[in-house]
Formats: sequence, structure tokens, C-alpha cells
Amino acid sequence: MLSVLLFVLFASGTPTFTPVLPPSYPLAVRNPYLSAWLPGNQAAELPVAVPQFWNGQNLTWSIIARIDGQAYSLFGVPVPGAGVKAASVQSAEYTSTHTTFTLTAGSASFVLDFLSPISPLDYVRQSLPFSYVTVSASGTNGATPDVQIYSDIDNSWIGQFGEDVQTSWSYATTEASTSVLTLTPGGTANYSEVNDMAQWGTAVYCARGSDVSAGVGMSSDVRGSFAVNGSLSGSWQWRPGSVIGFSQCLGTISAPTNVTFAIGYWRPAAVNYMGNARTAYFTSSCQDINCACVHALTDFQAADAEARALDATIAGKASSVAGSNYSDILALSARQAFGAIDITIPADTLDTNDVMAFIKEISSDGNVNTVDVIYPTAPILYVMAPEYIRLLLEPVMQYLATGDWPHNYTVHDIGSNYPNATGHNNGTAELMPVEECGNLLTLAYMYTKASGDKDWVEKYQSLFQGYADYLVVNGLYPTQQLSTDDGAGSVANQTGLAIKAAIALKAFGAMTGQTNYTNYGDQFAAVLYNQAVGVDAGKTHFILVENADDTWALEFNLYMDVLLGLNTFSTDALAMQTSYYPSIRKPAGVALDSSLDWGKTDWMIFAASTAMAQGVDNEGVRDMFIDDVHALITNGLNPVPFSDKFFVENQGPDVQGGWNSYRARPVVGGHFALMALGGPSQILVGAGESHKRASLGRHG
Ligand SMILES: *[C@@H]1O[C@H](CO)[C@@H](O)[C@H](O)[C@H]1NC(C)=O
Ligand SMILES: *[C@@H]1O[C@H](CO)[C@@H](O)[C@H](O)[C@H]1NC(C)=O
Ligand SMILES: *[C@@H]1O[C@H](CO)[C@@H](O)[C@H](O)[C@H]1NC(C)=O
Ligand SMILES: *[C@@H]1O[C@H](CO)[C@@H](O)[C@H](O)[C@H]1NC(C)=O
Ligand SMILES: *[C@@H]1O[C@H](CO)[C@@H](O)[C@H](O)[C@H]1NC(C)=O
Ligand SMILES: *[C@@H]1O[C@H](CO)[C@@H](O)[C@H](O)[C@H]1NC(C)=O
Ligand SMILES: *[C@@H]1O[C@H](CO)[C@@H](O)[C@H](O)[C@H]1NC(C)=O
Ligand SMILES: *[C@@H]1O[C@H](CO)[C@@H](O)[C@H](O)[C@H]1NC(C)=O
Ligand SMILES: *[C@@H]1O[C@H](CO)[C@@H](O)[C@H](O)[C@H]1NC(C)=O
Ligand SMILES: *[C@@H]1O[C@H](CO)[C@@H](O)[C@H](O)[C@H]1NC(C)=O
Repeated sequence: MLSVLLFVLFASGTPTFTPVLPPSYPLAVRNPYLSAWLPGNQAAELPVAVPQFWNGQNLTWSIIARIDGQAYSLFGVPVPGAGVKAASVQSAEYTSTHTTFTLTAGSASFVLDFLSPISPLDYVRQSLPFSYVTVSASGTNGATPDVQIYSDIDNSWIGQFGEDVQTSWSYATTEASTSVLTLTPGGTANYSEVNDMAQWGTAVYCARGSDVSAGVGMSSDVRGSFAVNGSLSGSWQWRPGSVIGFSQCLGTISAPTNVTFAIGYWRPAAVNYMGNARTAYFTSSCQDINCACVHALTDFQAADAEARALDATIAGKASSVAGSNYSDILALSARQAFGAIDITIPADTLDTNDVMAFIKEISSDGNVNTVDVIYPTAPILYVMAPEYIRLLLEPVMQYLATGDWPHNYTVHDIGSNYPNATGHNNGTAELMPVEECGNLLTLAYMYTKASGDKDWVEKYQSLFQGYADYLVVNGLYPTQQLSTDDGAGSVANQTGLAIKAAIALKAFGAMTGQTNYTNYGDQFAAVLYNQAVGVDAGKTHFILVENADDTWALEFNLYMDVLLGLNTFSTDALAMQTSYYPSIRKPAGVALDSSLDWGKTDWMIFAASTAMAQGVDNEGVRDMFIDDVHALITNGLNPVPFSDKFFVENQGPDVQGGWNSYRARPVVGGHFALMALGGPSQILVGAGESHKRASLGRHG
């Protein structure tokens, strides 16, 4: 088996992977339901590769080129028809917004460029539910080949895999020579999912040009027609096993020539917020699919240029903060983090002054706006768009303000199953009282500090104060309860929760000027560190359980103290904890605590960042964590979207360096924690004309 694989690799020449060969390449990753990936272990065999939805379902998405009458598969054709040859993969590369493959075939070479823009401050562009693939062709060695390009998708994009499902399709041509193919599931309920894929809405494929032809039918027929004729014609009929596809004629190539397709998933009702439909902010620009396709393709060049600048900025800053390994991690994290978020407005009024963001707790449970998912995700938002912290918390605060949540601590999430943000009026939700009160207050201060906006916190002041009071009473010796890492189980007197409470009380004090809360935070810290309730007697490290000296934990909660400059814990305390980590590192990294054989990448980078607190400045520990996360994404064991949870040692069936149940989660936004130490809003993307126009239009 291995020798066969090696032979295949050798025979076709091993491609180069820049910057590394990752676990999985983001291809079209824009929101929880537009999330297509290519497992890294298929990249060298791109012509026969099968892309996947984040949750592992195979997706049909093919690209075929016809060169001087000969068809070559470039991407996604596991069963090439007769006479179709496979192109040869030369290289693969990822940046923060692009995944790019180069191939050669006949007398031509091709670049497949998958773009998922990240433009957080331009709500229209950010919420556009489309990604792009651009196919560029050029002749090799002075050749001027005749080239046509073909691409198709099928109803795997709408979560339909069986023979007996209802699928309807449509084809239209509209303004600006835009062609639109769609697939819509039938007989399914609004807001319903199957294995996390949306069952309501429409998959859309868009192309542009006067020389585009479209086809619908069995994939062998449609692809075969292209292979023979270089265009699509004939009678169209959808049957199980069909595809919808485009062919575009590039003609005789004497200079690099390209074609761009836009691929999308359209949900007029995107999120159900307490019974009210919310739609993508983008809907304020376009209310129908044809308009959306025209918009997407018209916006492509500007979106691409902006995204390329962003790629360079993130790579440059990351490298200067902590080197190329850190840059490799961030480039792989950015699309995944934003790809869990929907930016919405009300579906009925389309009021662009009523913006809310929703985030799916992808893969771990599908909850809506989980407070302890927003918290680890927040560093990327702090760096690129601090207002998203408010936009994500706003639906939580509005819900809490109704009083329908019957407890005096913060709710864990506002809905068990995305996209149904229907609350927990019966009071039953995952129970993490200290965790979520601490997170909420800390996030509120993070937003306030970054934005200078005091009004928002004032609006919910009494709720926030109630949660601060809850922490005053319950934060220092938490009862038996879960922390954010619920997989670690329910434990009493968790030092990590008490640390979180102390920092959150300081944050609340700083945010509201009420020094009594600041004093409580300082008192908590004094008990935990000075009086050694939360550290071992020899003061070598913080302990997992108060007064249990033989325990230890990764104290990621210390990070926000450093980021927000709260000085709850002394430099001595931070330096002590930092210098302890190398002594508990297992072969693949530091476990989350002394009872576990797994670790979390987001929290590792929080700890790496804490190591860079002023006066601690421990680059060795910083790099230890970064290199362990880097090893995770390069060890070849994990062909899934970036997993933030992995085994740090071999134990029973657990494989060191192997991923552990979580994938594609937005918490990888936490990898920006080190960069975030450089301050908020360092990288502003999308603050450009279209957003200004949109908001001016609404206000004016
Ligand atoms: C998904 O595609 C892979 C090839 O990558 C194939 O081996 C597997 O059988 C497919 N799974 C399903 C459920 O079709
Ligand atoms: C959301 O709620 C609707 C009913 O309003 C239901 O049909 C759908 O299955 C729910 N979605 C999820 C993901 O549970
Ligand atoms: C090729 O195009 C011709 C003319 O439109 C058509 O008659 C023929 O059926 C096509 N062949 C295939 C294989 O689609
Ligand atoms: C595609 O072609 C256009 C026009 O020649 C060019 O401006 C653009 O840079 C090309 N895009 C890519 C991604 O190669
Ligand atoms: C589903 O959502 C669409 C779009 O918002 C709406 O028009 C339709 O009435 C909804 N269907 C049901 C059964 O609620
Ligand atoms: C609360 O509501 C949820 C969802 O409807 C349900 O699963 C749960 O059993 C309810 N709990 C109680 C105590 O009624
Ligand atoms: C929260 O509620 C519990 C029980 O309902 C009560 O005992 C406690 O005093 C309250 N705590 C605060 C800080 O309000
Ligand atoms: C938690 O710590 C407090 C204070 O030391 C102690 O009174 C309490 O018994 C501890 N709880 C448990 C469950 O050990
Ligand atoms: C802190 O002081 C404020 C204003 O003086 C008061 O309203 C609040 O109850 C105090 N909180 C605590 C926990 O003492
Ligand atoms: C980067 O991380 C790898 C592990 O993937 C490690 O072997 C290497 O030493 C690190 N390189 C640098 C420059 O730190």
C-alpha cells in the first residue's frame, strides 16, 4: 500500500507545499453552511480528490480543462470518463484567504485559486454567502493551446445523498452576461439540518461570459459532452446522480487567461432568533439569487485585491510577532474562525441598524452563540473587528434582558441547535455559571477598551452588575461545576475558574469605575497566589483544584489579564506559571490539566501569549507552544479542518499528535492571541467604500 502510494507520488513528481501541507485546505469557507474543504492527504492527487463539507461528507465539485481537444481532470473527478487524462499537480499553497493549486496538463499549466474573502468591516462583503474559484490557464514553453474550462457541482451541496430525495434545479441568464445554476432541496423544513448541512436554502453556481454554456444531467453525460465538444448542449433533465455544470471557452491562449466561478449557499432566512427570521446582511443589497450572482462576480476583483493585501498583512505581522511557524498557524485559522459566523439583519425589515452576529459552536455541539466559544474566538476579532464582540453578544444580552432566562448567572448559549436561537426559557442549558459570567464581563470590557464605546455596556449595566455580584459570591470557591473544557468533567474549587472570576471582576471594575469590584478581584488574586490557595506550597505553579498541591493545569485564563492590562496577577505569578510549563510538557504538548492526555491549541496559544507579558518575556516557552501547535498541523495524522483538541501522548487508543473529536471550530481565532498583544484593530479590512455607502444609504 505504502509503496504504491510512494510510486504514484514519485511518478507524478512530488508537489511542493507552501507554507506547509496542512490537515485540510479551506476551499469555500464563509459561514456554517458554506464550508467546503480539501483534506490535505488528497492534495497531491487533486484531479481525483473528493472535497468535503466540514463534517466529512463528500462533495461533488469538479474542474476539467480541455486542451487542444483533449480533456484533463484538474480537480474533483474521482471517476474520469473514457479518454479523460489527469493533470499533474505541481504545488499547493494556502494563505489566510486563498488556497491555490498549480497543475500542468498537455501544453498548458493551470492555477486553481479558491478564494473565501475575509472582510469583517464590510458587512455586505463579509456576509455574502459565496466563495470563488478562479481557473487560470497559460501555455507552457511558448505554446498557444486552445482551452475550454468545465466545472460542476451536485446535490451533495444541499445535504442530499440518497436516490429518493427531492431536488429541484434552475438555470437562468441575467444581467452582465451572468449565468446562474441552482439546486434546492424539497420537502424539508426551514432551519433544519442533516449532519450539520443546511436542508433549507439553495446551492448556487454562477459564471460570467458570453461564451458560457450550461448543462444539467448525469455527470458522465454532461462531462462527456464537454470532453467531446468543449461546450454543453442537449436536453436537460435532473435524475439522481446528476450534476449542474458550466463550460467556458477561453479560446487560444497566448497570455495567461482566467475564468472565475462563484459558489454559494443562499438562505433567505438564515437564523431563527426567538422566532424572528434574520437574513444575511448582504440581503440589504440583493433579495434574490440572480442579483446575488451578479453582485458576487462583479465584486470579485475588489474582494480579491483586498484579500491579497490581507494575506500579506497577516503573514507579515505574524512572522514579526513570533516567526514563520506562527504565521503558518494564523493563515490556516483565519477562514475557519470567520467561517462559523453569520452577520444578520431582520429578514422582514432589512433594517441595517439592527445588526446581530451569530456563531455556531461547530462540531462540539452546534449551540448558538456559546459564550465560552466567543471568548476563545475573540482575539482574531480584537485584532480585525472588535465590534464583532458586541455583535455576537448583542443577541445574548437581548435575550438575557427579557428575563426569560430564569437564573442570576449568564446563560451558556442562546440555542441548542444552530440556527435556532430560541433561548432556554425553562432554565435548562449547559451549566457553567462562573465560566460564563467571567467570560461575559471580560468580553464586554475587551470590546469597550478596544472600541471606546461606553454606551453599549451602559445599556446592559444592571445585568452585567448582577453577574459581577454573582462572581463576588460564587467566584473564589466555585461549587462543583463544568468549566469551558466540559470534556474534563465537573470539578469543585477549580483554580482556573477562580482566576477567571478575579480577572472578570477587575474588568468590570475598570469598565464601570466601581472600585469595590476591583478590590474583590485583587482580593481573590491575593488568596489564590499570595495565600497559596491556588498554587502549590512551594509556589512553583497554579494547581487544578484549590489546595490540591499534586495537581496542575494550563492556566489560559491568565491571558486576558495580560491583554487587557488589568494587573490582577503579579508578574511573579505569571513568570512562575510560565516557567513551569516545560516541566509538564508531554511528547506532543502540554495537556490541559494533570488528569488528561489531551490539550487545546487555543489555550496553548493563550499560554504562549501570557509568557510574553511584560517582565515575563519568556520566548522559549512561547515558541514551545507555537511549535507544538505547528507540529499538530504538519504531522500528517489529521485530515480534517484544523482541530483545536488533540492528544499530547500515546495512551490506550489515543495517538500522540492525533486530533480528538473537534474540528473546524471558530476557537482557532484564539491563535491570534499573541498578535492581539500588539493592540486592537491592528488590521482593518473592509472599512472601505461599500460599507460606508451601505450605512450612509440607510441613515441618510
Ligand atoms: C467519499 O470519498 C472517498 C474518496 O475520497 C471514498 O473513498 C468514500 O467511499 C466516499 N464516501 C462516501 C460515503 O461516498
Ligand atoms: C430548528 O427548528 C425547526 C422548527 O422550528 C426544526 O424544524 C429544525 O429541525 C430545527 N433545526 C435544528 C438544527 O435543530
Ligand atoms: C456535440 O455537439 C453537437 C452539436 O451541438 C451535438 O449534436 C452532439 O450531440 C454533441 N456531442 C456530445 C457528446 O454532447
Ligand atoms: C484574471 O485575468 C484578469 C484579466 O486579464 C487579470 O486582471 C487578473 O489578475 C487575473 N486573475 C487571476 C486570479 O489570475
Ligand atoms: C421558510 O422561510 C421562507 C423564507 O423566509 C418563508 O418565506 C417561508 O414562509 C418559511 N416557511 C415556513 C413553513 O415557515
Ligand atoms: C427544557 O427544554 C429543553 C428543550 O426544549 C428540553 O430538552 C428539556 O428537557 C427541558 N428541561 C426541563 C427541565 O423541562
Ligand atoms: C442567585 O440566586 C440564588 C438562588 O436563586 C441565591 O441564593 C443567590 O443569593 C443569588 N446570588 C446573587 C449574587 O444574587
Ligand atoms: C472548596 O473549598 C472550600 C474552601 O476551602 C471548602 O470549604 C470546600 O469544602 C471545598 N469544596 C469541595 C467540594 O472540596
Ligand atoms: C459596589 O458599589 C456599588 C456602588 O457603590 C454598589 O451599588 C454595589 O452594590 C457594590 N457591590 C458590591 C459587590 O459590594
Ligand atoms: C516550527 O515547528 C516545527 C514543528 O512543526 C519545529 O520542528 C521547528 O523547529 C519550528 N521552526 C522554527 C523556525 O521555529
